[in-house]
Amino acid sequence: MKRKIKTAILISGRGSNMQALIKASFDSDFPAQIVLVLSNKADASGLKFAEQNDIATAVIDHKKFANRQDFDQKIDEVLQSHQVELVCLAGFMRILSPQLVKKWHKKMLNIHPSLLPNFKGANAVLDALNAQAKITGCTTHFVSEEVDSGEIIMQSQVKISSDDNLASLSAKILEQEHIIYPRSLKIVCENLLKKI
Ligand code: GRF
Repeated sequence: MKRKIKTAILISGRGSNMQALIKASFDSDFPAQIVLVLSNKADASGLKFAEQNDIATAVIDHKKFANRQDFDQKIDEVLQSHQVELVCLAGFMRILSPQLVKKWHKKMLNIHPSLLPNFKGANAVLDALNAQAKITGCTTHFVSEEVDSGEIIMQSQVKISSDDNLASLSAKILEQEHIIYPRSLKIVCENLLKKI
């Protein structure tokens, strides 16, 4: 069997990007194998999809830890125990400590619903609407210590129509996210495999 990059996906909620990544990974030529889905919330609906597809899941509740560093250390332990080589954040709503981010330098990806560096932060779609932007989109990037600021991997543009609202624009962006996240993971894994 072809060597694949053991990949974990970190989620906090519905996990539609996680589903797109898992579905892409079912292609025998896809260079990533999803070995773990980790959530900080036990009720994250995305966990069910992973379980139904025989992918290991883990819940690490951030509220049970005294501080961010202890929580992140536990995340790292679980990643190590599954021999994870690459991490995809997919709607994971916790900011990670500089220590963990440094450890996973160039091995941790994120997806963000704007054309970075525009509209960083948790309200990117609403911020684009409020700014009356004509174009927004989504970005995949490596995770760096500063939130939504790491090296960009891929972007896709989405036109904003005058009748768009938060729901309609979010849906259009999400559709593009489901295309570029698997593509980005594929490229990053292929590059990693060249170095192994
Ligand atoms: C996406 O919009 C992504 O850009 C952002 O969080 C959302 C996650 O959605 N980081 P889902 O859980 O993948 O459906």
